[in-house]
Amino acid sequence: MKRLGILISGRGSNFEAIAQNIAAGSISAEIAVVIANRPEARGLATALRLGLNAVCIPSKGLDREIYDRMLLEELSRNAVDLVCLAGYMRLLSATFIRQFPNRILNIHPSLLPSFPGLDAQHQALDHGVKISGCTVHFVDEGLDAGPIILQSAVEVLDGDSAETLSARILQEEHRIYSEAIRLVLAGNYRIEGRRVTLT
Ligand code: GRF
Repeated sequence: MKRLGILISGRGSNFEAIAQNIAAGSISAEIAVVIANRPEARGLATALRLGLNAVCIPSKGLDREIYDRMLLEELSRNAVDLVCLAGYMRLLSATFIRQFPNRILNIHPSLLPSFPGLDAQHQALDHGVKISGCTVHFVDEGLDAGPIILQSAVEVLDGDSAETLSARILQEEHRIYSEAIRLVLAGNYRIEGRRVTLT
């Protein structure tokens, strides 16, 4: 059974959707550890309530290299195969990324390469796009930049606020993140340049 390490900073709804799919048997993997970098992360309480191995490693004030080494230790202690960033609001160091080549996934609430970075749903509304969505991608050393595994498009409605648009995108996030994890764990894909294709 493959072992997932999930990194969160906040609400943790993507983590929860993954946990539900694992519990329902639709992803065959186990959550080896949930790590929050903020003690107040709501997802941390959820993970503990679900009886998962959940730890907080506060990142505040720590140098990235030093912090990432602490993360790597925790992940290796738990023999993690695949790292899933789920609302993890920190950049990872190159040292960290090199330890998990093509073994780190991220979910982003826009159709990348549009609107990387913070407040992607705000950015989409401000730009006036008619279609936005979400993206699951491999993590490389760029910001929201690695090869794209899955995307889902969501229409932007005239009356949308950042909240209403975010809520509709989030439903799709919950669906495609688990789908991407299944796909990556099954190993039936090839990465050529930026393209991820099914084999
Ligand atoms: C999601 O919109 C995700 O795409 C982005 O941060 C948000 C996290 O939400 N990276 P949650 O903590 O999973 O509820």
